[in-house]
Amino acid sequence: MRLKSLFSAGAVALLLGVSAAGNAADVKVGVVLTFSGGAAQFGQQISRGMELYMKQHGAELGHNVELIKRDSKRPGGDIAKTAVQELITREKVDILAGFVFSPNAIASAPLVTQGKVPMIIMNAGTAWIPNLSPYIARVSFTMWQSGYPMGEYAKDTLECKTAASGYTDYPPGKDSVSAFRTGFEKAGGEIVDEIPMGGPREVPDFTPFFQRVKDAKPDCFYVFVPAGNHTTAIVKTFADLGMGDAGIKLIGPGDLTQDTKLQDMGDDAVGMITMHHYSADYDTPENQAFVKAWKAEYGEDTTPDFMGVAGWDGMAAIFHVIRTLDGDIDADAAMAALKGWKFDSPRGPIMIDPETRDIVHDVHVHEVVKSGDRLAIEVLGTIPQVKDPCKELKIGKCAE
Ligand code: PHB
Repeated sequence: MRLKSLFSAGAVALLLGVSAAGNAADVKVGVVLTFSGGAAQFGQQISRGMELYMKQHGAELGHNVELIKRDSKRPGGDIAKTAVQELITREKVDILAGFVFSPNAIASAPLVTQGKVPMIIMNAGTAWIPNLSPYIARVSFTMWQSGYPMGEYAKDTLECKTAASGYTDYPPGKDSVSAFRTGFEKAGGEIVDEIPMGGPREVPDFTPFFQRVKDAKPDCFYVFVPAGNHTTAIVKTFADLGMGDAGIKLIGPGDLTQDTKLQDMGDDAVGMITMHHYSADYDTPENQAFVKAWKAEYGEDTTPDFMGVAGWDGMAAIFHVIRTLDGDIDADAAMAALKGWKFDSPRGPIMIDPETRDIVHDVHVHEVVKSGDRLAIEVLGTIPQVKDPCKELKIGKCAE
Protein backbone atom coordinates (compact mmCIF):
# COMPACT_ATOMS: atom_id res chain seq x y z
CA MET A 1 0.00 0.00 0.00
CA ARG A 2 1.74 3.15 -1.15
CA LEU A 3 1.78 6.67 0.27
CA LYS A 4 -0.34 6.01 3.30
CA SER A 5 0.13 7.28 6.80
CA LEU A 6 2.71 5.28 8.63
CA PHE A 7 0.64 5.27 11.77
CA SER A 8 -2.58 3.33 11.85
CA ALA A 9 -5.10 2.85 14.64
CA GLY A 10 -3.52 -0.51 15.52
CA ALA A 11 -0.47 -1.13 17.64
CA VAL A 12 2.64 0.00 15.78
CA ALA A 13 5.28 -2.51 16.73
CA LEU A 14 8.20 -1.65 14.55
CA LEU A 15 8.94 0.71 11.72
CA LEU A 16 12.10 0.27 9.72
CA GLY A 17 13.76 1.05 6.46
CA VAL A 18 12.52 4.51 5.43
CA SER A 19 13.88 5.24 1.97
CA ALA A 20 15.77 8.47 1.51
CA ALA A 21 14.37 8.69 -2.04
CA GLY A 22 10.90 9.28 -0.60
CA ASN A 23 9.06 6.68 -2.71
CA ALA A 24 9.05 4.04 -0.01
CA ALA A 25 5.90 1.99 0.33
CA ASP A 26 4.32 1.18 3.70
CA VAL A 27 3.75 -2.55 3.99
CA LYS A 28 1.50 -3.76 6.79
CA VAL A 29 2.16 -7.23 8.15
CA GLY A 30 -0.48 -8.67 10.49
CA VAL A 31 1.26 -10.97 12.98
CA VAL A 32 -0.97 -13.53 14.73
CA LEU A 33 0.89 -15.33 17.52
CA THR A 34 0.41 -16.57 21.07
CA PHE A 35 1.63 -13.72 23.28
CA SER A 36 0.01 -14.70 26.60
CA GLY A 37 -0.52 -17.79 28.73
CA GLY A 38 1.57 -20.96 28.58
CA ALA A 39 2.26 -20.59 24.86
CA ALA A 40 3.60 -17.01 25.14
CA GLN A 41 7.14 -18.43 24.85
CA PHE A 42 6.33 -19.48 21.25
CA GLY A 43 5.04 -16.05 20.26
CA GLN A 44 8.12 -14.47 21.80
CA GLN A 45 10.50 -16.80 19.89
CA ILE A 46 8.88 -16.19 16.53
CA SER A 47 8.54 -12.43 16.89
CA ARG A 48 12.13 -12.18 18.14
CA GLY A 49 13.27 -14.00 14.99
CA MET A 50 11.22 -11.64 12.81
CA GLU A 51 12.44 -8.51 14.56
CA LEU A 52 16.09 -9.57 14.51
CA TYR A 53 15.88 -10.07 10.74
CA MET A 54 14.21 -6.66 10.34
CA LYS A 55 16.83 -4.99 12.50
CA GLN A 56 19.68 -6.45 10.42
CA HIS A 57 18.13 -5.96 6.97
CA GLY A 58 15.47 -3.23 7.30
CA ALA A 59 17.70 -0.35 6.22
CA GLU A 60 18.55 -1.94 2.88
CA LEU A 61 14.91 -2.76 1.98
CA GLY A 62 13.89 0.74 0.91
CA HIS A 63 10.31 0.29 2.14
CA ASN A 64 8.64 0.63 5.52
CA VAL A 65 7.43 -2.51 7.25
CA GLU A 66 4.90 -2.22 10.03
CA LEU A 67 4.15 -5.26 12.20
CA ILE A 68 0.63 -5.21 13.65
CA LYS A 69 0.58 -7.88 16.34
CA ARG A 70 -2.43 -9.74 17.66
CA ASP A 71 -2.50 -12.32 20.46
CA SER A 72 -4.17 -15.59 19.45
CA LYS A 73 -3.86 -16.70 23.09
CA ARG A 74 -4.78 -20.40 22.75
CA PRO A 75 -4.89 -23.19 20.15
CA GLY A 76 -8.69 -23.24 19.68
CA GLY A 77 -8.85 -21.28 16.40
CA ASP A 78 -11.59 -18.85 17.42
CA ILE A 79 -9.46 -15.96 18.71
CA ALA A 80 -7.00 -16.24 15.81
CA LYS A 81 -9.86 -16.18 13.30
CA THR A 82 -11.36 -13.04 14.85
CA ALA A 83 -7.91 -11.42 14.81
CA VAL A 84 -7.38 -12.32 11.16
CA GLN A 85 -10.82 -10.93 10.26
CA GLU A 86 -10.00 -7.65 11.97
CA LEU A 87 -6.52 -7.44 10.46
CA ILE A 88 -7.90 -7.97 6.96
CA THR A 89 -11.01 -5.80 7.11
CA ARG A 90 -10.05 -2.98 9.48
CA GLU A 91 -6.26 -2.81 9.38
CA LYS A 92 -6.17 -3.79 5.71
CA VAL A 93 -2.91 -5.69 6.13
CA ASP A 94 -0.95 -6.62 3.01
CA ILE A 95 0.43 -9.87 4.43
CA LEU A 96 -0.44 -12.14 7.36
CA ALA A 97 2.23 -14.03 9.29
CA GLY A 98 2.77 -16.16 12.38
CA PHE A 99 0.38 -18.95 13.50
CA VAL A 100 1.84 -21.18 16.19
CA PHE A 101 -0.97 -23.71 16.48
CA SER A 102 -2.47 -25.61 13.57
CA PRO A 103 -6.14 -25.00 14.54
CA ASN A 104 -5.45 -21.25 14.39
CA ALA A 105 -4.10 -21.50 10.84
CA ILE A 106 -6.86 -23.93 9.79
CA ALA A 107 -9.65 -21.66 11.10
CA SER A 108 -8.14 -18.61 9.37
CA ALA A 109 -7.60 -20.23 5.94
CA PRO A 110 -11.04 -19.42 4.44
CA LEU A 111 -10.60 -15.75 5.40
CA VAL A 112 -7.30 -15.38 3.55
CA THR A 113 -8.87 -16.94 0.46
CA GLN A 114 -11.85 -14.56 0.59
CA GLY A 115 -9.74 -11.53 1.50
CA LYS A 116 -6.91 -12.45 -0.91
CA VAL A 117 -4.14 -11.89 1.61
CA PRO A 118 -0.91 -13.94 1.52
CA MET A 119 -0.40 -15.90 4.75
CA ILE A 120 3.12 -16.95 5.78
CA ILE A 121 2.98 -19.76 8.32
CA MET A 122 5.84 -19.66 10.80
CA ASN A 123 5.03 -22.74 12.86
CA ALA A 124 1.71 -24.65 12.50
CA GLY A 125 2.86 -28.04 11.18
CA THR A 126 -0.17 -30.08 10.09
CA ALA A 127 0.84 -31.21 6.63
CA TRP A 128 -2.34 -30.34 4.72
CA ILE A 129 -2.64 -26.68 5.87
CA PRO A 130 -1.33 -25.16 2.57
CA ASN A 131 -3.93 -27.24 0.71
CA LEU A 132 -6.64 -25.09 2.38
CA SER A 133 -5.89 -21.89 0.43
CA PRO A 134 -3.83 -20.83 -2.58
CA TYR A 135 -2.69 -17.84 -0.46
CA ILE A 136 -0.87 -19.94 2.16
CA ALA A 137 2.88 -20.59 2.11
CA ARG A 138 4.80 -22.22 4.95
CA VAL A 139 8.38 -21.50 6.07
CA SER A 140 8.41 -23.73 9.18
CA PHE A 141 8.04 -27.52 8.73
CA THR A 142 5.45 -30.25 8.28
CA MET A 143 4.80 -33.02 10.81
CA TRP A 144 5.47 -35.55 8.03
CA GLN A 145 8.96 -34.19 7.36
CA SER A 146 10.03 -35.47 10.79
CA GLY A 147 7.52 -38.29 11.52
CA TYR A 148 7.85 -40.26 8.30
CA PRO A 149 11.70 -40.51 8.22
CA MET A 150 11.66 -41.18 11.99
CA GLY A 151 9.48 -44.23 11.28
CA GLU A 152 11.97 -45.54 8.73
CA TYR A 153 14.96 -44.76 10.97
CA ALA A 154 13.36 -46.45 14.00
CA LYS A 155 13.02 -49.71 12.09
CA ASP A 156 16.11 -49.65 9.88
CA THR A 157 18.74 -48.08 12.16
CA LEU A 158 17.44 -48.28 15.74
CA GLU A 159 16.26 -51.82 14.94
CA CYS A 160 12.92 -51.44 16.68
CA LYS A 161 10.58 -54.19 15.52
CA THR A 162 7.63 -52.84 17.48
CA ALA A 163 6.62 -49.31 18.44
CA ALA A 164 3.90 -47.49 20.37
CA SER A 165 2.98 -43.82 19.85
CA GLY A 166 1.62 -41.18 22.21
CA TYR A 167 0.35 -37.86 20.90
CA THR A 168 -1.33 -34.62 21.87
CA ASP A 169 -4.80 -35.09 20.48
CA TYR A 170 -5.26 -32.38 17.86
CA PRO A 171 -4.38 -32.06 14.13
CA PRO A 172 -0.54 -31.97 14.24
CA GLY A 173 -0.45 -34.80 16.79
CA LYS A 174 -2.67 -37.03 14.64
CA ASP A 175 -0.59 -36.05 11.63
CA SER A 176 2.76 -36.76 13.29
CA VAL A 177 1.66 -40.20 14.49
CA SER A 178 0.18 -41.10 11.14
CA ALA A 179 3.47 -40.06 9.46
CA PHE A 180 5.49 -42.19 11.89
CA ARG A 181 3.14 -45.18 11.41
CA THR A 182 3.38 -44.91 7.61
CA GLY A 183 7.20 -44.80 7.61
CA PHE A 184 7.56 -47.49 10.30
CA GLU A 185 5.12 -49.97 8.72
CA LYS A 186 6.56 -49.41 5.26
CA ALA A 187 9.96 -50.39 6.66
CA GLY A 188 8.42 -53.56 8.15
CA GLY A 189 7.76 -52.49 11.76
CA GLU A 190 4.62 -53.18 13.78
CA ILE A 191 2.68 -50.51 15.72
CA VAL A 192 1.30 -52.00 18.95
CA ASP A 193 -0.57 -48.96 20.34
CA GLU A 194 -1.40 -45.30 19.55
CA ILE A 195 -2.49 -43.27 22.55
CA PRO A 196 -4.16 -39.83 22.53
CA MET A 197 -2.78 -37.94 25.55
CA GLY A 198 -5.11 -34.93 26.02
CA GLY A 199 -5.27 -31.55 24.30
CA PRO A 200 -2.52 -28.98 23.62
CA ARG A 201 -3.51 -26.37 26.20
CA GLU A 202 -2.63 -27.96 29.52
CA VAL A 203 0.31 -30.25 30.24
CA PRO A 204 -1.37 -33.45 31.45
CA ASP A 205 -0.05 -36.01 33.91
CA PHE A 206 1.51 -38.37 31.38
CA THR A 207 1.91 -41.24 33.89
CA PRO A 208 -1.17 -43.36 32.97
CA PHE A 209 -0.41 -43.13 29.23
CA PHE A 210 3.26 -44.00 29.71
CA GLN A 211 2.42 -46.86 32.09
CA ARG A 212 0.18 -48.33 29.36
CA VAL A 213 3.14 -48.17 26.96
CA LYS A 214 5.53 -49.70 29.50
CA ASP A 215 3.10 -52.61 29.95
CA ALA A 216 2.96 -53.14 26.15
CA LYS A 217 6.82 -53.34 26.04
CA PRO A 218 7.45 -51.89 22.55
CA ASP A 219 11.04 -51.45 21.36
CA CYS A 220 10.44 -47.76 20.50
CA PHE A 221 8.05 -45.18 21.97
CA TYR A 222 7.32 -42.30 19.54
CA VAL A 223 5.91 -39.17 21.17
CA PHE A 224 4.53 -35.95 19.72
CA VAL A 225 3.75 -33.01 22.01
CA PRO A 226 3.61 -29.34 20.94
CA ALA A 227 7.05 -28.40 22.34
CA GLY A 228 7.23 -25.96 25.28
CA ASN A 229 6.38 -27.13 28.78
CA HIS A 230 5.09 -30.51 27.58
CA THR A 231 8.59 -31.67 26.60
CA THR A 232 10.24 -31.62 30.03
CA ALA A 233 7.26 -33.55 31.46
CA ILE A 234 7.74 -36.23 28.78
CA VAL A 235 11.39 -36.83 29.66
CA LYS A 236 10.68 -36.80 33.40
CA THR A 237 7.77 -39.25 33.22
CA PHE A 238 9.73 -41.61 30.97
CA ALA A 239 12.61 -41.61 33.49
CA ASP A 240 10.37 -41.85 36.59
CA LEU A 241 8.70 -44.99 35.22
CA GLY A 242 12.08 -46.56 34.40
CA MET A 243 11.06 -47.05 30.78
CA GLY A 244 14.62 -46.74 29.44
CA ASP A 245 15.79 -49.44 31.87
CA ALA A 246 12.89 -51.58 30.64
CA GLY A 247 14.49 -51.48 27.17
CA ILE A 248 12.22 -48.89 25.51
CA LYS A 249 13.74 -46.15 23.34
CA LEU A 250 12.14 -42.67 23.55
CA ILE A 251 12.00 -41.06 20.10
CA GLY A 252 10.02 -38.31 18.36
CA PRO A 253 10.12 -35.20 16.20
CA GLY A 254 12.58 -32.49 17.30
CA ASP A 255 9.73 -30.62 18.97
CA LEU A 256 10.69 -32.83 21.94
CA THR A 257 14.26 -31.54 22.07
CA GLN A 258 13.53 -27.82 21.56
CA ASP A 259 16.67 -25.76 22.24
CA THR A 260 14.91 -23.49 24.73
CA LYS A 261 13.86 -26.49 26.85
CA LEU A 262 16.82 -28.82 26.45
CA GLN A 263 18.82 -27.67 29.49
CA ASP A 264 15.78 -28.10 31.76
CA MET A 265 15.52 -31.79 30.89
CA GLY A 266 18.54 -32.96 32.85
CA ASP A 267 20.64 -36.00 32.13
CA ASP A 268 17.54 -38.16 31.67
CA ALA A 269 17.36 -36.75 28.13
CA VAL A 270 20.82 -38.08 27.17
CA GLY A 271 20.56 -40.65 24.39
CA MET A 272 17.16 -39.47 23.17
CA ILE A 273 16.83 -39.53 19.35
CA THR A 274 14.72 -37.02 17.46
CA MET A 275 14.32 -36.02 13.82
CA HIS A 276 14.32 -32.31 12.95
CA HIS A 277 15.47 -29.43 10.78
CA TYR A 278 17.04 -27.12 13.37
CA SER A 279 19.18 -26.99 16.46
CA ALA A 280 21.03 -23.95 17.80
CA ASP A 281 24.06 -26.27 18.06
CA TYR A 282 24.48 -26.61 14.26
CA ASP A 283 28.08 -25.88 13.47
CA THR A 284 27.66 -23.85 10.27
CA PRO A 285 28.80 -20.24 9.70
CA GLU A 286 25.19 -19.13 8.97
CA ASN A 287 23.91 -20.65 12.19
CA GLN A 288 26.81 -19.47 14.33
CA ALA A 289 26.28 -15.89 13.09
CA PHE A 290 22.54 -16.20 13.79
CA VAL A 291 23.00 -17.54 17.34
CA LYS A 292 25.66 -14.87 18.07
CA ALA A 293 23.35 -12.07 16.87
CA TRP A 294 20.46 -13.55 18.87
CA LYS A 295 22.47 -13.63 22.08
CA ALA A 296 23.79 -10.10 21.49
CA GLU A 297 20.22 -8.85 21.04
CA TYR A 298 18.31 -10.84 23.63
CA GLY A 299 20.91 -11.90 26.21
CA GLU A 300 23.73 -14.41 26.58
CA ASP A 301 21.47 -16.84 28.45
CA THR A 302 18.88 -16.94 25.62
CA THR A 303 18.87 -19.19 22.58
CA PRO A 304 16.93 -19.34 19.35
CA ASP A 305 15.06 -22.57 18.64
CA PHE A 306 13.15 -23.93 15.64
CA MET A 307 10.42 -21.33 16.16
CA GLY A 308 12.91 -18.45 16.28
CA VAL A 309 14.51 -19.58 13.05
CA ALA A 310 11.07 -19.80 11.41
CA GLY A 311 10.44 -16.16 12.40
CA TRP A 312 13.80 -15.15 10.87
CA ASP A 313 13.23 -17.13 7.67
CA GLY A 314 9.61 -15.96 7.44
CA MET A 315 10.69 -12.34 7.61
CA ALA A 316 13.30 -13.05 4.92
CA ALA A 317 10.47 -14.44 2.77
CA ILE A 318 8.37 -11.32 3.41
CA PHE A 319 11.31 -9.05 2.50
CA HIS A 320 11.77 -11.07 -0.69
CA VAL A 321 8.12 -10.46 -1.62
CA ILE A 322 8.34 -6.74 -0.81
CA ARG A 323 11.54 -6.38 -2.83
CA THR A 324 10.20 -8.37 -5.80
CA LEU A 325 6.97 -6.34 -5.93
CA ASP A 326 8.73 -3.05 -5.09
CA GLY A 327 6.45 -2.62 -2.09
CA ASP A 328 3.16 -2.81 -4.01
CA ILE A 329 1.70 -6.01 -2.57
CA ASP A 330 -0.74 -7.96 -4.72
CA ALA A 331 -1.69 -11.39 -3.36
CA ASP A 332 -1.32 -13.37 -6.58
CA ALA A 333 2.00 -11.71 -7.42
CA ALA A 334 3.21 -12.31 -3.86
CA MET A 335 2.43 -16.02 -4.08
CA ALA A 336 4.19 -16.20 -7.46
CA ALA A 337 7.27 -14.59 -5.85
CA LEU A 338 7.21 -17.08 -2.97
CA LYS A 339 6.99 -20.14 -5.20
CA GLY A 340 10.53 -21.44 -5.70
CA TRP A 341 12.08 -18.85 -3.33
CA LYS A 342 15.45 -20.06 -2.04
CA PHE A 343 17.31 -18.88 1.05
CA ASP A 344 20.43 -19.72 3.06
CA SER A 345 18.75 -20.12 6.42
CA PRO A 346 20.57 -20.75 9.72
CA ARG A 347 19.01 -24.22 9.42
CA GLY A 348 20.68 -24.77 6.02
CA PRO A 349 19.38 -24.23 2.48
CA ILE A 350 15.59 -23.87 2.22
CA MET A 351 13.12 -23.48 -0.63
CA ILE A 352 9.37 -22.97 -1.01
CA ASP A 353 8.15 -25.83 -3.19
CA PRO A 354 6.48 -24.12 -6.19
CA GLU A 355 3.87 -26.88 -6.42
CA THR A 356 2.78 -27.17 -2.78
CA ARG A 357 3.91 -23.79 -1.34
CA ASP A 358 5.45 -25.79 1.49
CA ILE A 359 8.98 -25.69 2.90
CA VAL A 360 11.74 -27.94 1.56
CA HIS A 361 14.71 -28.36 3.91
CA ASP A 362 17.32 -30.79 5.22
CA VAL A 363 16.15 -33.07 8.02
CA HIS A 364 18.65 -34.39 10.56
CA VAL A 365 18.81 -37.22 13.08
CA HIS A 366 19.49 -35.59 16.45
CA GLU A 367 20.94 -37.32 19.49
CA VAL A 368 20.97 -35.62 22.87
CA VAL A 369 24.52 -35.79 24.28
CA LYS A 370 26.33 -34.33 27.26
CA SER A 371 28.91 -31.70 26.31
CA GLY A 372 30.74 -30.37 29.38
CA ASP A 373 28.04 -29.39 31.82
CA ARG A 374 25.34 -28.80 29.22
CA LEU A 375 23.13 -30.94 27.01
CA ALA A 376 23.77 -30.62 23.29
CA ILE A 377 22.46 -31.93 19.99
CA GLU A 378 24.75 -34.14 17.93
CA VAL A 379 23.78 -34.73 14.32
CA LEU A 380 23.97 -38.44 13.47
CA GLY A 381 22.76 -38.18 9.89
CA THR A 382 21.07 -35.93 7.34
CA ILE A 383 18.37 -36.39 4.74
CA PRO A 384 18.87 -33.57 2.22
CA GLN A 385 16.09 -31.35 0.91
CA VAL A 386 13.02 -33.20 2.16
CA LYS A 387 9.71 -32.29 0.49
CA ASP A 388 6.59 -32.93 2.56
CA PRO A 389 6.11 -36.73 2.32
CA CYS A 390 2.36 -36.44 2.95
CA LYS A 391 1.91 -34.50 -0.28
CA GLU A 392 4.53 -36.55 -2.14
CA LEU A 393 2.63 -39.75 -1.23
CA LYS A 394 -0.77 -38.02 -1.72
CA ILE A 395 -2.17 -39.22 1.61
CA GLY A 396 -5.63 -38.20 2.89
CA LYS A 397 -6.24 -34.45 2.91
CA CYS A 398 -2.75 -33.91 1.41
CA ALA A 399 -4.14 -35.30 -1.86
CA GLU A 400 -6.94 -32.69 -2.06
C1 PHB B 1 0.97 -27.07 15.71
O1 PHB B 1 -0.04 -26.75 16.39
O2 PHB B 1 0.90 -27.26 14.50
C2 PHB B 1 2.26 -27.28 16.42
C3 PHB B 1 2.53 -26.63 17.63
C4 PHB B 1 3.75 -26.86 18.27
C5 PHB B 1 4.67 -27.71 17.68
C6 PHB B 1 4.41 -28.34 16.48
C7 PHB B 1 3.21 -28.13 15.85
O3 PHB B 1 5.86 -27.96 18.30
